[in-house]
Amino acid sequence: MPRVIPIVTDLRAASPALSPGHALLDALPPLSLYVHVPWCVRKCPYCDFNSHQAGDSIPEGRYLDALAADLEQALPKIWGRQVHTVFIGGGTPSLLSESAVDRLLAMLRSYLNLWPDAEITLEANPGTAEADRFLAYAASGVNRISIGIQSFNDRHLEALGRIHNARQAREAIVMAQKAVSRVNLDLMFALPGQTMAECEEDVRAALDSGTEHLSLYQLTLEPNTVFAKYPPKLPDDDVAAHMQDHVETLVTNAGFDRYEVSAYARPGARARHNVNYWEFGDYLGIGPGAHGKLSFPDRIERDARVRNPESWMQAAPQRDASHVTDGRILAPEDLPFEFMLNALRLRQGVSASLYTERTGQPLATLTKALQRAHDQGLLVSDPTRLQASDRGWRFLNELQALFL
Ligand SMILES: C[S@@+](CC[C@H](N)C(=O)[O-])C[C@H]1O[C@@H](n2cnc3c(N)ncnc32)[C@H](O)[C@@H]1O
Ligand code: SF4
Repeated sequence: MPRVIPIVTDLRAASPALSPGHALLDALPPLSLYVHVPWCVRKCPYCDFNSHQAGDSIPEGRYLDALAADLEQALPKIWGRQVHTVFIGGGTPSLLSESAVDRLLAMLRSYLNLWPDAEITLEANPGTAEADRFLAYAASGVNRISIGIQSFNDRHLEALGRIHNARQAREAIVMAQKAVSRVNLDLMFALPGQTMAECEEDVRAALDSGTEHLSLYQLTLEPNTVFAKYPPKLPDDDVAAHMQDHVETLVTNAGFDRYEVSAYARPGARARHNVNYWEFGDYLGIGPGAHGKLSFPDRIERDARVRNPESWMQAAPQRDASHVTDGRILAPEDLPFEFMLNALRLRQGVSASLYTERTGQPLATLTKALQRAHDQGLLVSDPTRLQASDRGWRFLNELQALFL
């Protein structure tokens, strides 16, 4: 059983700087909701997300009951706050039936103060795409679909263990575009045996689809995956870096802005949910393994949910907080790194005043690290911004580490 630490108000005593009544934040940040769907048709060999091969069917009824119990127990923490974005991620949420997504969204609407114009994204795998299903999701309120394409090359899709081919990937995009006006495509590059020309073909195919948003990730070998145990031959670091530069050139020449390390958007098409993470906004995470970060006037809390789907489905309905793990209040000394780790991923960074707004800490708590970063030419010289310079962008890990 995972370690269970229910969050109790007494935890505040652990941090004298955050003692009850000590006002930390003048205003609470925007609030998002993340809902985790933990099942996939098959586990991809490179994937370290909390995703599990589904059996013949997924236990939708028990899952939705547990989600309702999870959400109900979290409500006192977000009472009265408006929810700006919802992200139904996984795993493969497009495995859920039309009626399950409808019940899920009706539940969110009845429990939450959901902003009328809320961005509601659902992640889909082309191997589970069906035109009617996407239309039904949209009728229930989903207004953005994020599709895990990975590649348009059948040979690479097979090497990645994907359950779909390139034709199905193209068809899924068309189905999604008929259902909603906002579609994101996930693509990976530096794939086993991939040439620069093949990488370019993938990006061009994605651009030709007319999508408004692209998430482009370099394939990484993650611990505890099949690829970590049996590593495929990947392009070497120089080739991968060259691919990254080439991908950026192709996509920005097509009118996209690389606004975050892996995210590219046409004007007005940024993923509001993800931007809220990077701007150190708040998010409630429900479902197995979901993480959350919530602010209160006197403290900022993080927590997570039990990772194993079966254990979470058993624990959440007990209503004794045993489905919550790793609850903790962030110590003031954690905040500079937590904030900068996120904010510096944005190409335009953030305004310096956002640091105090979101962490309650004076900018002076960053002074030493900022000085070092400026001395190394890693930040732009504008003192009103916290933004990587061109050099800082190239050495982002080193820049972020200065705030540890
Ligand atoms: C949580 S997955 C969900 C997408 C959906 N389940 C699918 O695969 O179709 C989000 C994205 O992370 C990316 N990703 C997953 N594992 C990765 C890895 N090891 N290296 C790079 N990107 C990865 C993939 O592009 C994937 O689409
Ligand atoms: S379908 Fe997506 S979440 Fe599922 S195993 Fe593959 S990459 Fe991971």
